[in-house]
Amino acid sequence: MRGIFITFEGGEGAGKSTQIKNLAERLKNTGQKVVLSREPGGSPGAEIIRHVLLSGGAQAFGPETEVLMFAAARLDHMRQTILPALQTGCVVLCDRFYDSTRAYQGGGDGVSNDYLKQMEAISVGGNDPDLTIILDIDPVLGMQRVMDRLETANKTTTKKPMQVDRFEKDDLDVHRKRREAFLAIAKEESRRCVVVDASQDPETVSEVIWLFVQQRLEDKGIKIRETM
Ligand code: TYD
Repeated sequence: MRGIFITFEGGEGAGKSTQIKNLAERLKNTGQKVVLSREPGGSPGAEIIRHVLLSGGAQAFGPETEVLMFAAARLDHMRQTILPALQTGCVVLCDRFYDSTRAYQGGGDGVSNDYLKQMEAISVGGNDPDLTIILDIDPVLGMQRVMDRLETANKTTTKKPMQVDRFEKDDLDVHRKRREAFLAIAKEESRRCVVVDASQDPETVSEVIWLFVQQRLEDKGIKIRETM
């Protein structure tokens, strides 16, 4: 039995983590087996590559090399985590997937579509998400949320202060290009993708997401009923 593969996408500060957590709770309450994952990362090997990418260690080699590294991480993540979970009937919720590569390295950094498609074929091989939720946010608001979150976290920690990562650091016009790229993907692949306005309060966003997820599960012949 194949499970369901749901990915969350969007720019910085869109609130993906909160929404994934809420959705996971809700799905578990209906008796679904849920696996949470993220990219880059999601398997021990891919987490090592994540560290290199987010620290900016591969930036000097250019965006094509970064795409290769995202693809290497994705291939391992697919094999080690996503496919085994789907094969046992789980709902896999993944924080970012190939649309982030398309939007960040494609839309933002100008890597060609051809190149991205080849990497997708190698790393994903047609195991596309069943549903992709794109949390859409104005980058000005999104980056404000990121900064507020960092400030709060740094106030309460005794560890080394956290900083913005290699991709959060980029200029506002790059963040805007990424947003446009996500919206273009949603338009082009409207069966797979839904866009949710992430500037709304988190409870409203969760409700909208829940409706889309319920619908997609039912389309796949999975009836769900909340017990709590
Ligand atoms: P993460 O700390 O997981 O942040 P977020 O909460 O924004 O998801 O960082 C992942 C970063 O990597 C994020 O800035 C987006 C970027 N990224 C890409 O540029 N390309 C990709 O293919 C993926 C998966 C992520």
